[in-house]
Amino acid sequence: MLSIIVAYDKNYGIGAKNDIPWMGKLPADIEHFRTTTKDAAVIMGWITYKSIGRLLPKRQNIIISDYADTVVEGATVAGSLQEAIKLADPSRNTFVIGGGTIYAQAIDLADVIIASEINATILECTVFFPKIDKNVWREVSRQHMPANKDNLYDFDIVTYKKIKTT
Ligand SMILES: NC(=O)c1ccc[n+]([C@@H]2O[C@H](COP(=O)([O-])OP(=O)(O)OC[C@H]3O[C@@H](n4cnc5c(N)ncnc54)[C@H](OP(=O)(O)O)[C@@H]3O)[C@@H](O)[C@H]2O)c1
Repeated sequence: MLSIIVAYDKNYGIGAKNDIPWMGKLPADIEHFRTTTKDAAVIMGWITYKSIGRLLPKRQNIIISDYADTVVEGATVAGSLQEAIKLADPSRNTFVIGGGTIYAQAIDLADVIIASEINATILECTVFFPKIDKNVWREVSRQHMPANKDNLYDFDIVTYKKIKTT
């Protein structure tokens, strides 16, 4: 089973300037990401890998690049999303963790989307998640996460399951 995990704003914005604009302002989402992807295979684009700045511990890190012969110690570099999926350890859950170009390719292949839907419009976003077609995806769970002194925005953790292949 292939899952996508993503956080987006009201306009499906996910990033700007090779970073996540709400980084540091939503630690509850980081914690959700950490616990959900623990021990999994995580597939990411090269820009996302560089923007994280390190490998994610306790996970199989698979990085997609046109330069698939690049060596990243402790990670696997794949030349395409399809190759990355094949290289994922079958005994682990597999998550596509971004960014925009990889989500756009993965949405047709994925079975599940776990989306943190941030209740804000973050105008600086220049990278977007594809719009979720409700004829293809059914919402199966939603957990509200209220803003508080540490978390600037309300967000909902929503799980969508694919009900129809495109
Ligand atoms: N909000 C969230 O949940 C979330 C999650 C992750 C990332 N982000 C944000 O998203 C942004 C990054 O997204 P992005 O779209 O700019 O970049 P990206 O998808 O992370 O990486 C793009 C790179 O991946 C490689 N790539 C993509 N498709 C490929 C293919 N089919 N074959 C071979 N290589 C391929 C290429 O690397 P090479 O140039 O090396 O060939 C390409 O330049 C950042 O702002 C990041 O912070 C947000």
